[in-house]
Amino acid sequence: MAKLSPSILSADFARLGEQTEIVSAAGADYMHIDVMDGHFVPNISFGASVMKSLNDFETAPYDVHLMIEDPDRYLGDFVTEKTEFITVHQEACPHLNRTVEHIRSYGVGAGVAVNPATPICMLEDILEYADLILVMTVNPGFGGQSFIRSCMKKVRKLVEIREKYGCEFEIEIDGGAKLENAEEIVEAGTDIVVAGSAVFGAEDLSQRVREFRQKLGT
Ligand code: DX5
Ligand code: ZN
Repeated sequence: MAKLSPSILSADFARLGEQTEIVSAAGADYMHIDVMDGHFVPNISFGASVMKSLNDFETAPYDVHLMIEDPDRYLGDFVTEKTEFITVHQEACPHLNRTVEHIRSYGVGAGVAVNPATPICMLEDILEYADLILVMTVNPGFGGQSFIRSCMKKVRKLVEIREKYGCEFEIEIDGGAKLENAEEIVEAGTDIVVAGSAVFGAEDLSQRVREFRQKLGT
């Protein structure tokens, strides 16, 4: 059983409020907010003001994914009553422990993401402090890319480590999730599945969320 976090990166930005309400009402557990700066990743998406424009809509809590350099400068901008997690990239944070504590100081869950080429051993000393570990299953920057299956071994490793050391973090995957691979993603031990194009590319958004939830066992 896993939760669903649809990524608004693939939504119709001109109808963002309406579409996020539809997917939330249909059962999305979080709204995944992909922030890209054109430096850490080769694409620019949107910033905190776009996320905050959703505050007056009936949406699921925000699951913020910062694909930006020097995230500490902007963390406060993403804190709202609806912000559940703020996730930063291990590769973008030389003082990761400080950044994680900074996120937690706002009373928000702290997430750490790893790119496909970053091994889990790089997270060894942060796991006990993190609320969420985000395993990228595509190279970050764009929606609609193909799932990199080999990244799933990191999910299995994280499940083992969590059990062995009694850590509490949730495990999320992001990139290339589809109805077709949802079951194998859950079987590996994923707690939260991000899906962008596979949700917002559908004709009927509510129906697609319901189909996903069925595959995820919720
Ligand atoms: C990729 C983003 C993902 C993306 C997922 O850089 O972090 O959240 O929106 O999109 P899909 O599900 O289409 O691969
Ligand atoms: Zn993301």
